[in-house]
Amino acid sequence: KIYPVILSGGAGTRLWPLSRAAFPKQLLPLVGEQTMLQDTVSRVSSWPEIMPPLMVCGNEHRFMIAEQLREIEVKPLGIMLEPMGKNTAPAVAAAAHFLLKQDEQAVMLVLPADHVITDVAAFQAAVQRASVSVGQGALATFGIQPSKPETGYGYIHRGAAHASGEGNFIVDRFVEKPDLETAKKFVADEAYSWNSGMFLFKARDYLNELKEYRPQISAAVEEAVAKAYVDLDFCRLDEVAFAASPSESIDYAVMENTRRAVVVPADIGWSDVGSWSALWEVLPGDEAGNVVRGDVYLDQVANTLVRAESRMVAVLGVEDLIVVETDDAVLIAHKDKVQDVKGIVDNLKSKK
Ligand code: GDD
Ligand code: MG
Repeated sequence: KIYPVILSGGAGTRLWPLSRAAFPKQLLPLVGEQTMLQDTVSRVSSWPEIMPPLMVCGNEHRFMIAEQLREIEVKPLGIMLEPMGKNTAPAVAAAAHFLLKQDEQAVMLVLPADHVITDVAAFQAAVQRASVSVGQGALATFGIQPSKPETGYGYIHRGAAHASGEGNFIVDRFVEKPDLETAKKFVADEAYSWNSGMFLFKARDYLNELKEYRPQISAAVEEAVAKAYVDLDFCRLDEVAFAASPSESIDYAVMENTRRAVVVPADIGWSDVGSWSALWEVLPGDEAGNVVRGDVYLDQVANTLVRAESRMVAVLGVEDLIVVETDDAVLIAHKDKVQDVKGIVDNLKSKK
């Protein structure tokens, strides 16, 4: 049986001013009618032999997440609440312990709540191929063909074919967030793919690897789950125990180190929609390449994204811009600079 584990702890700061600490991008309808979290859950909910999702999130988002699941009529297996953000290695470990209590053989499908996948059938087929390797003890990641030297991703160098016979490869090397020079070399080499940040493995196998490479995280989370307090759908991890865990991502803590990693090539229309330009790319535009949402007037504008939330926005004679209007803040940025939006948020925070 496969248990989807939905990670919803990020802040999505590069999508400011729409994405806010209280309302991060995964809880917003950025791409379609549903929020990204709802899309993530819906995508897998009708698969055969799939269990209800286990949500892992921060305390402050619990009611919004519960409500968004009610809206799409999904009853989660549970909603685990982290007393503070400790990144993904501890979050996934907590989920693994939770699942092992009810199913010693649990296979977990770890899914960030803020990704777009346009070809769900291909994704389902990739998970199917992955599950064969996972049955043989592998920790599977889904590899995406790189299109640019993105430095915010993990890169996977594939080695020999995995024994599963499903077209999966043993991971020769996993490099999380390389510098630009290295990323350029990787993109030019066919044997590299992007790590999508989605994983499939047995809960037990993940915990064993974590224990080997990050014993401190392993011990802290084990205690936090043992002392967890369950009320209704919510499972609150013990604050003192969880606070003792180092903060680290699953990529650095486990995937860069484990010898059991397998990469499953996945051509599934994936995007992590990490920035405004990435969002511009995934949304259909008009002939001039403009993407608009809300009450927007355009004249002689090209390749521009305009999003009006509460007022009418008129744009004249520009190209390659991002214009985002909200109640209390407006962003106007060149499309090439959207990675620096994070800097605006950091600066605003430090001024307070
Ligand atoms: N519950 C929980 N708790 N979720 C978290 C936490 C946490 O402390 N920290 C992050 N998350 C969630 C985020 O909301 C996101 O959905 C997912 O975990 C991944 O975290 P990111 O912070 O977005 O990671 P990243 O984008 O820098 O890198 C990862 O994703 C890339 C692809 O998008 C890595 O896996 C890279 O290797 C990968 O290429
Ligand atoms: Mg991300």
